[in-house]
Amino acid sequence: MSKGYQDALEIVHEFTKNPNFVKHMLAVEAGMRAYAQKLGEDEELWATAGILHDFDWEIHPTLDEHPVKGAELLRERGWDEEMVRTVLSHYPSGTGVEPERLVDFGLTACDEITGLITATALVRPSKDIRDVRLKSVKKKWKDRSFAAGVDREHVAAAVEAFIAAAGPALEGWDLWQHVDLALQAMQGIATELGLDGRLA
Ligand SMILES: [Fe+2]
Ligand SMILES: [Fe+2]
Repeated sequence: MSKGYQDALEIVHEFTKNPNFVKHMLAVEAGMRAYAQKLGEDEELWATAGILHDFDWEIHPTLDEHPVKGAELLRERGWDEEMVRTVLSHYPSGTGVEPERLVDFGLTACDEITGLITATALVRPSKDIRDVRLKSVKKKWKDRSFAAGVDREHVAAAVEAFIAAAGPALEGWDLWQHVDLALQAMQGIATELGLDGRLA
């Protein structure tokens, strides 16, 4: 039987002890689920890619190791090559594996933007992501010194490529609609993300 979401969750917890890394993967999973529903794609597949993509970041914390070495580990564990390819494709400049399937484009589009949304929630006095409006994320996007690690050009290009790959299903869609969908998806799992006000 091919591996699925539960296996992904297990391997994430096996190799990731830092709860913030797990939360990043959960956030990306939430965005991926929302898109799978919107686009009528296989939700388990999209969620699996989202939760799995950085499972090895803690053990391979540099970009010469991640996600290439993680991909080897997935192969050893019997993951199918398609999912291994999807994981590799979230960092094409390092792995040489370009996004091909729609799920690959979705993953790169959802990946980094979650970091900006999380950072935006954390500077709110309430520290509750459910109080974050799209307008605030937009403002933070424009302030390049804020969450400077989030490469705006890279995100914008990834989102554009995803929208193009989705074709008519995302016709007329733009960066901000994408950010809004990711924000709403993350708001839906505020508790799992620890962004439910408990840090205020
Ligand atoms: Fe990564
Ligand atoms: Fe990531």
